[in-house]
Amino acid sequence: MIKIAPSILAADFSKLADEVKDVEKGGADYIHIDVMDGHFVPNISMGPFVVEAVRKTTNLPLDVHLMIENPDQYIKAFVEAGADIITVHVEAARHLHRTLQYIRSHGIKSGVVLNPATPASTIEHVLELTDMVLLMTVNPGFGGQDFIEAVLPKIREVRTMIEAKGLCIDIEVDGGIHGGTIKACQEAGANVFVAGSAIFGRKDRHAAIKDIRSKLE
Ligand code: DX5
Ligand code: ZN
Repeated sequence: MIKIAPSILAADFSKLADEVKDVEKGGADYIHIDVMDGHFVPNISMGPFVVEAVRKTTNLPLDVHLMIENPDQYIKAFVEAGADIITVHVEAARHLHRTLQYIRSHGIKSGVVLNPATPASTIEHVLELTDMVLLMTVNPGFGGQDFIEAVLPKIREVRTMIEAKGLCIDIEVDGGIHGGTIKACQEAGANVFVAGSAIFGRKDRHAAIKDIRSKLE
């Protein structure tokens, strides 16, 4: 099932509630929340307080992307703040298997994220504990970067791995997703599409969502 997940990193935070309501009205399926700690990635963004605030403004599932060291330490706080899906980076979770179990033990969905340079094989043994695989199509840390084409074969590879195991797992792509890049990701096997600047960078967010959705089958 196709899902569009606007990333609020590119939203106007002086009116965040309106921004979230606007994309919800415009047909968003998830709200993507980018959590950055200034260690795992060279930028600092938002934490559980912001998730809690967004939770009050929408009923859409909150897709919380943790770009932080020691994710286990903060999972409970994000669950309590209202996260519906928590994704952790392979590169940051020292005991990934345990972390995914721990996320699911709170009754929410778990996801695993791979940086562009990280091979698909790193998640082969945890797929059963995963509801979503997020493949970064830029190096994490900032919005508005260019899509990295070299990730496309990895999308295919992960889709094949999932099918070979007979599992039902979403593949999400994040970074540089817009009208010109989204179709290739879908063709490779992705079905959840994060878009920051392609949606919040336009005045008419409803039209932006409609435009990127129109590229999909
Ligand atoms: C990057 C974040 C992305 C970012 C995407 O580290 O994970 O979610 O907001 O922004 P765009 O769509 O502008 O590339
Ligand atoms: Zn993200």
